Amino acid sequence: MTRIAIAYHSGYGHTEVLANSVAQGVRDAGAEAVLLKIDNAGQDFDPLLDEITASDAVIFGAPTYMGDVSGVFKVFADASSRAFFTGAWKDKLAAGFTNSHSFSGDKLHALTSLAILASQHGMNWVNLGLAPPNIPAAERGPDTLNRVGAFLGLAGQSDNASPELSPPSGDRETARLLGVRVAQAAQRWKRGAATELAAERDSRKWTPVAAAVTLHTSEMEPV
Ligand SMILES: Cc1cc2nc3c(=O)[nH]c(=O)nc-3n(C[C@H](O)[C@H](O)[C@H](O)COP(=O)(O)O)c2cc1C
Repeated sequence: MTRIAIAYHSGYGHTEVLANSVAQGVRDAGAEAVLLKIDNAGQDFDPLLDEITASDAVIFGAPTYMGDVSGVFKVFADASSRAFFTGAWKDKLAAGFTNSHSFSGDKLHALTSLAILASQHGMNWVNLGLAPPNIPAAERGPDTLNRVGAFLGLAGQSDNASPELSPPSGDRETARLLGVRVAQAAQRWKRGAATELAAERDSRKWTPVAAAVTLHTSEMEPV
């Protein structure tokens, strides 16, 4: 089964709500979701890094703090250099999500940091793939998908309220759809790799026969 890791930090629980919705989407698409919570800057990150290495794709999640990913997430990102040096994550798929209080709040910078992290590992970035809402801003409500109109990844927004109430349902559904999208892309990616391997095996199987035919015909008199 295709395995998708969701590696996230959440200081106060709002980004965690989105992580859980992303995981739901992964499961809805028929893949396995592995939730990896980044707790604190002092933890041993090796088990998390190994889980990602064992997965087909990873979806990074971090709250936006001071216009970028949280410091705890950044410590995890630095620790991932262990995987960078061995190329362990190269050619996997990656995507990302963030959450912040303001509609902008410089969230794009955090998403960009996640995409750069994936690129440094040689991973292939999967964007959100949802059009921004094509309705007047005044008509956008808590159920609106991709409410703040992001492209690079999911940009959630939460008020100063408990994670049970905020981010709202539209952001949670957008997170679920990101999980579906990444899982489906990873399934296609894996099928493609399997097809390529099978084709390579087939070509190896046929090469000697083709060579024998060439040899045989080359010995025949031209007609
Ligand atoms: C240290 C700190 C810095 C923050 N910086 C920003 C910011 O740059 N932009 C913004 O919109 N919200 C900012 N916020 C608000 C958080 O993004 C918001 O509360 C978010 O829901 C936190 O997610 P979490 O509950 O997963 O930690 C900041 C909060 C903290 C604690």
